[in-house]
Amino acid sequence: MTDSKIAAKPWSGRFQQTTDAFVEAFTASVGFDRRLYRQDITGSIAHARMLQRQGILSEDECDAIVDGLGRIQARIEAGSFQWSVALEDVHMNIEAALTDLIGDAGKRLHTGRSRNDQVATDIRLWLRDEIDAISTTIAQLRETLLDLAEREADSILPGFTHLQVAQPITFGHHMMAWVEMLERDAERLADCRKRVNVMPLGAAALAGTSYPLDRAYTAEQLGFDRPASNSLDAVSDRDFAIEFCAVASILMMHLSRFSEELILWSSAQFGFIELSDAFCTGSSIMPQKKNPDVPELVRGKTGRIFGHLMALLTLMKGQPLAYNKDNQEDKEPLFDTADNLRGSLQVFAGMMQHLSCNRERMRAAALQGFSTATDLADYLVCRGIPFRDAHEIVGKAVAFGLREQRDLAELTLAELRRFAPAIGPDVFDVLTLEGSVAARDHLGGTAPNQVRAAVARRRKTARQTP
Ligand code: ARG
Repeated sequence: MTDSKIAAKPWSGRFQQTTDAFVEAFTASVGFDRRLYRQDITGSIAHARMLQRQGILSEDECDAIVDGLGRIQARIEAGSFQWSVALEDVHMNIEAALTDLIGDAGKRLHTGRSRNDQVATDIRLWLRDEIDAISTTIAQLRETLLDLAEREADSILPGFTHLQVAQPITFGHHMMAWVEMLERDAERLADCRKRVNVMPLGAAALAGTSYPLDRAYTAEQLGFDRPASNSLDAVSDRDFAIEFCAVASILMMHLSRFSEELILWSSAQFGFIELSDAFCTGSSIMPQKKNPDVPELVRGKTGRIFGHLMALLTLMKGQPLAYNKDNQEDKEPLFDTADNLRGSLQVFAGMMQHLSCNRERMRAAALQGFSTATDLADYLVCRGIPFRDAHEIVGKAVAFGLREQRDLAELTLAELRRFAPAIGPDVFDVLTLEGSVAARDHLGGTAPNQVRAAVARRRKTARQTP
């Protein structure tokens, strides 16, 4: 390595030897943190404007910096910017290019700041944008599910516990369960954003700076809610990134469960739904196959996102205050989490939009497995029989039905009366699937009325969210 290369490193002053070539590559982050170029430039422009306002930079210097950074951004976006591993990271690459372009003024940009507060600022700006984009995608998926719930408010399928037929439910009600989960995910994300949107700039390396900075002004320019209150904390903690990965993990856990249902439901054995061809793939050997790859992949990606959460927690747990190079390892897990979360949500929204339900198959499945047994017990309770006795009576009727291979609704009145003489001809109203779901007509119940009301309520709250 040549002397000119040593000189190229902004920190080379105290060094007598060049960096080992492998160490240079090993310690560099430019391969992945160049993704932060826009946030780095935006942050630098706000910092320069503040320095000028405070009389630390002249107007000419500030103008040259702002103009130079704009040109660098254009070059990066045109693909003609030369990234250098010797310059380690996105911050030093851009700063060196700026000095190259505008001379001495470029060297003044780093006044009152360090890469430690700079990188923390860049990540927060980047994550804030990602959170906003992800929130929009969640809203799109929610809209799709609301439309689907409304369309299928009357469609009946068996509800399961232990994956055994339990009670009839409506498909719309089932979709609304997912809407509730997504709603909480959106709330968690919005809450996480509050803690992301705090500005580290001004913390400098760790202790703050001796220049008379106006941190509130920089924060305002960058849309941060406020400057961070403690310089050590501002440069070192990545809890905001960990929190995002935790929110992402919970969200992916929901999408993974949802995927599992779609995979089961689209199998020949269930046959409840059909995914659009546009969201499935075939087999290279079995011509009949149509595989639910999209939900399978979402379920699979959940694993790596949980892994990223663990990676960041572990990254942080052993670090003394303040900044340590360990933190450079925060970016790849964070980027990958945001990319895959966003992708999963987007593909889910499209897939659910084109989902078709096989109402006959769902209904036929709900007719099997004595799904209205609880309704018969409730009927007996209405005729004065204590619930525990009613449970026992219906259990015996089910055992009889199993022997006869007939569902409760297929037994005759005389047969049913053998188990409880109180049973009248009106029992068949509650033994039907429609009667069973319609009876659960209260807030949170599966009745079609309630599904439509829940959809309307959610549409109203969704409209209020900015
Ligand atoms: N590339 C570094 C990172 O991602 C930037 C901060 C480096 N600071 C330092 N003092 N070495 O964390």
